[in-house]
Amino acid sequence: MDSSFIYMSCQIGAESALKREIARISGFRPAFSRPGFLTFKTDRTNEIDPQELADFHNNLVFARSIGLSLGKIEAPDLETVAEKVFAGYIDGPLFKEKRHLRFHVWQRDAYQPGEHGFEPGMGESARKLHGRLVAHILERAASHIDQPNRWACGIDLPELPAQLSDTIVDCIGIDRDTWWIGTRMPCRLDAMSQWPGGITPLLLPFDAVSRAWLKFEEGLRWSAFPIGIGTRCLDIGSAPGGSSQALLARGAEVIGLDPGEMAPAVLNHPNFTHLRGRTGKVKVRAFRKVRWILADMNVAPQYTLRALEDLVLHPEMKIRGLLFTLKLFHWNLAEALPEYLKTIRHWGFHSIRAKQLAFNKQEVMVAAAK
Ligand SMILES: C[S@@+](CC[C@H](N)C(=O)[O-])C[C@H]1O[C@@H](n2cnc3c(N)ncnc32)[C@H](O)[C@@H]1O
Repeated sequence: MDSSFIYMSCQIGAESALKREIARISGFRPAFSRPGFLTFKTDRTNEIDPQELADFHNNLVFARSIGLSLGKIEAPDLETVAEKVFAGYIDGPLFKEKRHLRFHVWQRDAYQPGEHGFEPGMGESARKLHGRLVAHILERAASHIDQPNRWACGIDLPELPAQLSDTIVDCIGIDRDTWWIGTRMPCRLDAMSQWPGGITPLLLPFDAVSRAWLKFEEGLRWSAFPIGIGTRCLDIGSAPGGSSQALLARGAEVIGLDPGEMAPAVLNHPNFTHLRGRTGKVKVRAFRKVRWILADMNVAPQYTLRALEDLVLHPEMKIRGLLFTLKLFHWNLAEALPEYLKTIRHWGFHSIRAKQLAFNKQEVMVAAAK
């Protein structure tokens, strides 16, 4: 297995930030690059352990998924791609290794999330290729009835999360006629990494009042914060209300702080209270019972951090966790992320993670817990 190349996927536009991040913390050198998909060369002579790579992924802000390159397939149509993937990787060496495999077929992003109606996901060509691979596998299984379970494993449903012990085989659409093959393991600390391409399959519900529902639904799952029935939350920058909806759906009691108008569906929810105003202008006493803070203000990162610091360090507040966005109005702000995280650590939070989640635009999600 050629493990000297590593591939990563990311948001379109985040490639340079990801390259700078990699240069800062590892010796990997950039190799192939397309929007939303990069490869890096390593100088390591020993084989990289996929589990080690999965743990490394947890420390990266801009990599959505990361794995070991196995090769590239170029073919003019999906049927030929399916034949080559099947012959080269499925009906071949990987299966003989007897590991539990999970096949993930997906494509690099076409646009930034929310642009041209695009949201990250498996992709149409990936869905078609998946169907063709299933057909090959079922046909082969019929003539190898001693192995039907192994042939069928992990490819029966297009979007299925891997188990933590699975070895994922990624088949990634790069361009119309180019597919990348690689392997990875899910990261034990990041449930998102169990999904194809590290993308939680989320669809904006018909009654969601804003797209922000997607990023906070993803953020709440990623953080795994124990927010449930009766949990008291403050949502700063709550209008029109998608993030509050994600909290209310879990049974939380939510105070929304925003000078803007809340959508009626949120405003009229019995567990929601709107404080119309800005941070710094409202008496902190109003938030005394709050234990978790979400924040999504369209302001510079330093402003968000100052607003949160005033609340978190206030003697009357007992905050257990924070989940908030830092808007990267320009990409140079990514360089300051380590400093921002250090500031949050000084507030007394020990578990601090930052990630550009699949549904984040030019921003990162930070989760901090005590
Ligand atoms: C991206 S929108 C929030 C979207 C919202 N979370 C949702 O789910 O629909 C940003 C919001 O931040 C609010 N905002 C900006 N500065 C603020 C401040 N200092 N205090 C409270 N809200 C603020 C704006 O009024 C705006 O409604």
